[in-house]
Amino acid sequence: MSAVLPTAAFLYERVRRVIPPIEWPAFTDDIEAILALKCERKAVILAHNYQTPEIFHCVADIVGDSLALARKAMAIDADVIVLAGVHFMAETAKLLNPDKTVLISDLSAGCSLADSITAADVRLMRQRYPGVPVVTYVNTSAAVKAESDICCTSSNALAVVESLDVPRVIMLPDEYLAKNVAAKTDVEIIAWKGHCEVHERFNAEDIRELRETHPGVVVLAHPECPPEVVAEADFSGSTSAMSDYVGREKPKRVVLMTECSMSDNVAVAHPDVEFVRPCNLCPHMKRITLANIRAALEENRHVVTIDPRVATHARRAVERMLSI
Ligand code: 13P
Ligand code: SF4
Repeated sequence: MSAVLPTAAFLYERVRRVIPPIEWPAFTDDIEAILALKCERKAVILAHNYQTPEIFHCVADIVGDSLALARKAMAIDADVIVLAGVHFMAETAKLLNPDKTVLISDLSAGCSLADSITAADVRLMRQRYPGVPVVTYVNTSAAVKAESDICCTSSNALAVVESLDVPRVIMLPDEYLAKNVAAKTDVEIIAWKGHCEVHERFNAEDIRELRETHPGVVVLAHPECPPEVVAEADFSGSTSAMSDYVGREKPKRVVLMTECSMSDNVAVAHPDVEFVRPCNLCPHMKRITLANIRAALEENRHVVTIDPRVATHARRAVERMLSI
């Protein structure tokens, strides 16, 4: 952490292409306060790629997709971690940092996938398919992870499934991620019926229309999209994989079939790329604001806790994934 605070004015240079000047003054007070509070409390802010640009580019210390946030959470030198993302991400950070204070600034920042399955559902699946290993997407509660053999994220799902070296796996809870992985492997995948409320709204017709109205557009789709969308896209990968694709391939025109703020965050680093922006917002990610991050650091809320018996089993499933 730097002893000299970067001023909000300096930070505006980073985000001026995605935050209009008229909106910026509403953020500066909170940004200055958060930068000071981070030093005072020896805190770091981990922000997911879907956070808004004033969070992602102005106060976050570590940014990335779910896998990167989990990996980087393992090596944090801080007393306090603020997770700017949704609740399952904060739980994962806590699992990997049991002795640190992990805060999430709005406890109701959930996820439709995490809400689609309970620990009892996983036990029922095990009874129905005895001996078949359970691969659980990180977008689940710690209680669900605790019932699982191993976790996965959108960036390592295929590698995790194949690492088990078995003919069949149960993959929970995202039906579309499971089907998108199934299309790339000989392993038989038994899926659940969970969906991401943001990605399930995209369809193949949207892509065909985008290609017509924006000639030459390169289409990148998150693997939580329905398989018909992934099949129509030019590339599919995790949020960070999409961001890396833009940096590597430098398409003239691109559309990210994923949450809306991603395009803003990636556009900041790529002024020469034109981003076409259909806007599907994740209401859960958008619960996190500069104002509530500031309040979280000022008032030490909301502290993320996990029942120790659940945590032991859930941590094992996350650590097994991270060892791959
Ligand atoms: P990533 O792991 O690709 O960042 O995805 C997380 C998520 O919630 C996507 O909706
Ligand atoms: Fe969950 Fe979808 Fe929001 Fe990601 S975008 S946090 S999967 S609801």
